[in-house]
Amino acid sequence: MKRTLSVPGIAYGGDYNPEQWPEEVWAEDVALMREAGVNMVSVGIFSWALLEPAEGLFDFSRMDKILGLLHENGIAADLATPTAAPPAWFFRAHPEALPVDRDGRTLSYGSRQTFCPSSPAYRRAALRITDQLAQRYADHPAVAMWHVHNEYGCHNAACYCDTSAEAFRGWLRARYGNLDALNDAWGTTFWSQWYYHWDEILPPRATGAVPNPTHQLDWRRFCSDELLSLYRAERDVLSVAAPDTPATTNFMVNFSFEALDYWRWAPELDVVSNDHYLQSTDPESHIDIALCGDLMRSLAGGPWFLMEHSTGAVNWQPVNRAKGPGELRRNALAHVAHGADGIAYFQWRAAKAGAEQWHSAMLPHAGTDSQIWRDVVRLGADLKALAEVRGSTGTAEVAIVWDWDARWALELPSQPSGELRYLDLVRTWYEPLWRAGVAVDFVRPDGDLSAYRLVLAPGLYLVDDAGAANLTSYAERGGTLAVGFHSGMVDEKCHVRLGGYPGAFREALGVRSDEPFPLLPGEKVGLSGEVPQEATGTLWSERLRLAGAEAVASYTDGPLAGVPAVTRHAHGAGTAWYVATLLDPDTLAGLLGRMRAEAEVEPVRSVPAGVEVVRRRGTDADYVFLIDHAGQGAEIPVPAGATELLTGKETTGSVTLAPGEIAVVREPRGDVSAQRSDDRKDTP
Ligand code: GAL
Repeated sequence: MKRTLSVPGIAYGGDYNPEQWPEEVWAEDVALMREAGVNMVSVGIFSWALLEPAEGLFDFSRMDKILGLLHENGIAADLATPTAAPPAWFFRAHPEALPVDRDGRTLSYGSRQTFCPSSPAYRRAALRITDQLAQRYADHPAVAMWHVHNEYGCHNAACYCDTSAEAFRGWLRARYGNLDALNDAWGTTFWSQWYYHWDEILPPRATGAVPNPTHQLDWRRFCSDELLSLYRAERDVLSVAAPDTPATTNFMVNFSFEALDYWRWAPELDVVSNDHYLQSTDPESHIDIALCGDLMRSLAGGPWFLMEHSTGAVNWQPVNRAKGPGELRRNALAHVAHGADGIAYFQWRAAKAGAEQWHSAMLPHAGTDSQIWRDVVRLGADLKALAEVRGSTGTAEVAIVWDWDARWALELPSQPSGELRYLDLVRTWYEPLWRAGVAVDFVRPDGDLSAYRLVLAPGLYLVDDAGAANLTSYAERGGTLAVGFHSGMVDEKCHVRLGGYPGAFREALGVRSDEPFPLLPGEKVGLSGEVPQEATGTLWSERLRLAGAEAVASYTDGPLAGVPAVTRHAHGAGTAWYVATLLDPDTLAGLLGRMRAEAEVEPVRSVPAGVEVVRRRGTDADYVFLIDHAGQGAEIPVPAGATELLTGKETTGSVTLAPGEIAVVREPRGDVSAQRSDDRKDTP
């Protein structure tokens, strides 16, 4: 049973690092927090060196004062275990705990998270400080949640040292039982890679040619599990001392991090939380917010907590873009729209020293006479006005299949094309749905699909038999399934599914392909059929032939002129589509529109281009978020007599969004939702 966070309404705050400042500053901190409506901050995340100045010697005097001060001011603490930043004394005593990279270089301490996840010395030290914190603060009235570690694997997702090698072998023994099974799974008859003794197996260290794919895939699985076991160990220590206090750790579901299989992590957290930063080069990073928010809501199975984002620029991209007018507010409320019940930043007060001195914060270097501060105060008021939204969740009828195994396997070297990026493929399919105002969930390949009218599987290169059967039987029972190219190609051992492509889905899709023809960067092929005249494909093509399906579009030129590129197959009581090339955005949008029409999937609301619409469903009301990312302003019909929560005003049949503005409309649940749930009775 998951423990819930007791902070009322939408939690608001950020990482608070008062230890970086003289005590005189703290009083101003809490006064300003109150002014901004901050009701929860994360403390102690990187405090290990101060909490334990020498091995086994603890000093909690500063933390006692900080927690006391927060409590006196009605601000809850999300108290962190400081284990992401072991102190210098630890590494002097245990140099063997330093991580080793793929090339065999031992990294030095002097930043953070430079430890080997498999190091017994690290685990002992981490659990000791965790236990001390748990004993001391389990009953502290300020402590509302445990923030376990920080961003597991951000800097040390893999360590290639001998200790890690031993742990990897232990993990492999548990997975395969014996070497014959491992040799079979890894296909080690290839290139004389057969293992006769467990000790011969190493991490996939730098080597002369391409390492074995299954070896690499198992290594990624192991690395994710190894860090998960550290999380579990700390959480268990905390749970013994404080059985009712929820625990979280901040995920990194964003554009750049791929190291952890969060489907395996999420059930272990009471509150599922995320850190999300914008990519300066993404002109539509609000779509990334939406995609990641939907993935988080799906991982959490409901509301989640945004543990970190930024008020302005970060400091770790080549050029760190500040946010434009109103962007801070749009970003934060878009996270709420996609299910966040807590909004927090890195960090409260901008640092004047240290590696992050040029990172934005809620209270900038310039102080309160700054745009960011004014925006932060306004956001505090907005979140207060949205308190009742807490606990409400999504209403999607479309699901996109998401799988970390597939992501890792697709991006291994020596693929037919090195240009395939899992997240890009998913985003390509997500974007037209976002633009059309259609709600999306993410599901595991073997997840429950019964709530969905349309299921999409882009880039699902690897799928096990259970996942494949789940997806194909979904279509067979009446669902609409669309599969993207290079899907279903290998099983969980990363072995090719024989007999023609796309292996696992061939029969359901009613097609058979015998050779991939990936396209070169910049190469385009024309398409004709039930697609616009100017339709094109890039990135991928394959020699496909129909085996029961009908061709919806075929190539007009290139090496495969005349060959089907998009197909549709009546499979059982449902429909299975195959999209064998990367369609240009308009054509893909049109195709997804057709699939939606056939599957009777409605948008949340029809909105002008650039306006995002998202619905959160509560017990008695729906909350419709309208966010103008295009900066054009809009007039959007909503039921009369509803309430716009940010202004508190009653609606009269529409809301007017000023350019760049946001509205959140509480609509009492009425006939529409009842009608939709009746409609669902025959959904598979
Ligand atoms: C996160 C991290 C924070 C801070 C932030 C800066 O990855 O958890 O501690 O470093 O990035 O953007």
